Amino acid sequence: MNVRTTIERAAKSVMGALTPGEAQPDILETLHAEHEEVRELLAKLVNSDAAREQKQLVAKIKQALVPHARAEEKVVYDAIIGLRDKEAKIEGNEGYIEHSLTDVTLKKLDKLSANTPEFKAAAKVLKELLEHHIREEEKDIWAQVKENFSDEQREQMNRDFLAAKKKVKVA
Ligand SMILES: [Fe+2]
Ligand SMILES: [Fe+2]
Repeated sequence: MNVRTTIERAAKSVMGALTPGEAQPDILETLHAEHEEVRELLAKLVNSDAAREQKQLVAKIKQALVPHARAEEKVVYDAIIGLRDKEAKIEGNEGYIEHSLTDVTLKKLDKLSANTPEFKAAAKVLKELLEHHIREEEKDIWAQVKENFSDEQREQMNRDFLAAKKKVKVA
């Protein structure tokens, strides 16, 4: 390979990495950023004493959480459950169950009148459930992802995750 080809190839790969829509982060980077967003919203929710703000925060949590959870199930949990490893299958299924528990709690919260003891209790439970879930997910599920999928596969998972999220309708 001559010098010019080498330079051209290097330039192409740099441009490729910089072109929007082509450069892809690792799926785990995207998941982490979304987890942090939900964590912040939950902290604001349990600290809020204003009914209007509480309702706005619940709506924001729902918009952030529901597409995240459905796409995560499809792209991450199903991939983990599809592995031959028994432990991985259990962890993927555990994720599904925890998501269903957060779905139920979020629905309840959405129906309750804001700033009531019942609402505050549901907000607290949702925060606790999700903090536990995110902690375990980032530890156990991510260990499976890191161990079983290459950098390229994880970039592809990120594309699939973003596409799957777009298809989710939040009721
Ligand atoms: Fe997640
Ligand atoms: Fe999750």
